[in-house]
Amino acid sequence: MKTKNNVKLGFDELDELVRPAPEVVEFEEVANKMVSRRGFLGGGAAVGAGAFVMGSTAFSASKALAAGSKESRLAFSMVGANTLDTVTVPEGYKWEVLASWGDPLFSNAPAFNATTGGTGASQELAFGDHNDGMAFFSKDGKQIMAINNEYTNGDTLHANRTDGMPANADDVRKNKAAHGVSIIEVAERGGKWGIVQDSPYNRRITADTEMDITGPARGHKWMQTSEDPKGLVAKGTWNNCGNGQTPWGTYLTCEENFNGYFTANDKDYKMSEAFKRYGMSTEGRYNWAMADNRFDLVKEPNEPNRFGYIVEIDPLDPTSRPKKRTALGRFKHENAELTIAPNGHVVVYLGDDERGEFLYRFISKHKYLAGGNNRDLLEEGTLYVAKFHDNNRGEWLALTPKTTGMTEAEISIHTRMAASKVGATTMDRPEWVAAHPHKAEVYCSLTNNKNRGVKPNAGGDETPAGGPNPRVKNNFGQIVRWMPMDSDHTHTEFKWDLFVLAGNPAVFDDANAGSQNINQDNMFNSPDGLKFDSKGLLWIQTDGNYSNEKDFQGQGNNQMLVGDPDTGEIRRFLVGPKESEITGLAWNAAKTTMFISIQHPGEGGNSHWPDGGRSVPRSSVIAISREDGAVLG
Ligand code: FEO
Ligand code: CA
Ligand code: CA
Repeated sequence: MKTKNNVKLGFDELDELVRPAPEVVEFEEVANKMVSRRGFLGGGAAVGAGAFVMGSTAFSASKALAAGSKESRLAFSMVGANTLDTVTVPEGYKWEVLASWGDPLFSNAPAFNATTGGTGASQELAFGDHNDGMAFFSKDGKQIMAINNEYTNGDTLHANRTDGMPANADDVRKNKAAHGVSIIEVAERGGKWGIVQDSPYNRRITADTEMDITGPARGHKWMQTSEDPKGLVAKGTWNNCGNGQTPWGTYLTCEENFNGYFTANDKDYKMSEAFKRYGMSTEGRYNWAMADNRFDLVKEPNEPNRFGYIVEIDPLDPTSRPKKRTALGRFKHENAELTIAPNGHVVVYLGDDERGEFLYRFISKHKYLAGGNNRDLLEEGTLYVAKFHDNNRGEWLALTPKTTGMTEAEISIHTRMAASKVGATTMDRPEWVAAHPHKAEVYCSLTNNKNRGVKPNAGGDETPAGGPNPRVKNNFGQIVRWMPMDSDHTHTEFKWDLFVLAGNPAVFDDANAGSQNINQDNMFNSPDGLKFDSKGLLWIQTDGNYSNEKDFQGQGNNQMLVGDPDTGEIRRFLVGPKESEITGLAWNAAKTTMFISIQHPGEGGNSHWPDGGRSVPRSSVIAISREDGAVLG
C-alpha cells in the first residue's frame, strides 16, 4: 500500500497527492467569521453571504428541545463517548458477531486461518473483508442477507507479509475475492445468530463475477475492451460502499472509489481529463495489474469506464447475473435510496462521495406497478443534480442531451462532467441518503470537506462556503434535509434546511461547536451512514476522526446515534471498537434484531476486535437486540 512517512494513505490522502491544495488563502479567515455559532443559536439570523439558517423554516429543534414539550422518543440511556476496543451499547441491549471476514460460507471450505488470512481459493468461499452496506430479505421462511465488502486492509489480509500490496498472483486472487458482495443465509439458533453454511443462497460476488451492462452506456465504444469487444459484459464489482433495496426484492450495491485499482507502469502515459475527474492515478493502491491486464491503463484504456455504477443483484436467485445500471450515472456512489413517488415513478437519491462533488436524483421512465414486472425499472430514466439556493430553496437540474450537449451514453459515463455543465452545487462529500418512511422528507450526510472554500473540485468547479455547506474547511460535517414541493419526489423544486451541524462545543464556541442540538454529551464528527427505522427515527453512523484529541477531544471512537426528525434530539446509541467505522444497517423481518457493520477495526494496527487477546482484527457484521427481546426499530 502506498505510504507517506510510513503512514498508510487513504483515498483522501491519495487525492491530496494527485491534486495538492493551494496555499492557504486569506478569504478563509473571512468566511470562517461569517458563520458563527451565535448566528444559528439565534434561530436563523443570517450571517453574511455564507450564512445558513437553522430553525427558521421547517425545523425548530432548539425551540422544541428547550420547551421540553415532547417526551423523548429515544427510549434508551445515552452511551458515553469512549475509546475502548469493544462495542458499547445502552443498558438493556446486547450484541454478538454474526459474520467476520474470512468466515467460510460452505462446509468444504477451510476455517479462517488467523496466521495467514487464508488463500485466494479459501477467500472465494468465505465472507469478504471490510463489510459495509447491507439489506435483509426473506423467502419461504429463510432469512437472507446481502452485504457489501467494500475494500481490504492489505496488511491484515496479507498477514503483514507484504507492504500491504498483493505480492504474487494468489495474493491478487485473494484480494479481489475479499471485495464485492457476500450473500448469506442467516439464522438464530440456540439464541445465537450465524451464517447457515451450505445454504443454496450463499454466494460470493467478487471483482471477477460477470455482470451485464445495461442502460445508455451498454455497448458504447468507451465501454469496449479486448475481453469484451462489444461492451456488454463487465467483470466484477469492487469498492462496494453503501446500498439500496428495491420493493421488487433486489439489492443495489454501489461502486465508490473504483479508481484506486488501476495503474500505469509507463512514464509516458498521459491521463485523460475524464480520468482525472475521477481521481485516477498511475500508482493505484492494489497492484491487481500484476496478475490481471484489466487493471493496467496502458493495456486496457477503457476498463475504468465500466466501474463507478449502481449494480442490481437478485439475492433470492443464486443463478441470476448482476446488472450494472448505467442510467443511474457513474461517480463515486455512496448509497442508493429508493422511494416510489405518488405518481408511481421510482425515485433514487444518490450521493457522490468526493469533496466538492454533487448530489443526484434518478427518476425512472416507467412506473412501478405493485405485483407487476418491475425488474428493469432502473434501466431507463433521467438523472438530475441538485442546486441549492441560499434562501432554503433548491431545484433539480436535469442531465439531458439538451442541457449538457452530451449524448445519453456520455452522460451516464462522464456523469460528473455533465453535472458541472449545468452548474450544480458542489457539496461537502455527500454520503448516505435516507428518505423518511412516513413523509416526503429526505436526509443526506455531508461528512466533511477540508477543501471547502480552499480549492475547487477536480473539474475546476469552485467551492465557496454557503447554503447547505456553510463552513470553510469543514472538519465535522452536517446533515442536510430537503422537502420536495407538494410532497412529490418527482417535483423539480424543494425546500431545505440543516438537521444538524456536527461540531465540538467542548473546544469551540464558533461555528465549529455545531448546532443547537449538539452538546458535550452527544457530539460526534463525520456523519456517514443514515437509515430510517419504521418509526421514523434516523440512525446516524460515523466514519470520522477517532483520535479523541485536539479538535476531536472527547468524541472517542466512531459511533452510532439516533435522531428524532421532529424535535432535533440526538442520542448516542453505540460506540465501536478502536479505529473502526460504523456503517450499514438492516433489521430482521420481526425487527427484533438490528445488524450493522463494524468496518476496519484497527486499521492503524491498534485493535484486536472481535476475537481479543493478540488476535488479528476482523471487520464484522454484528447483531444487536434488546435483552427483553422487544422490537428495536
Ligand atoms: Fe465508502 Fe463514502 O464511504
Ligand atoms: Ca460511507
Ligand atoms: Ca467510509
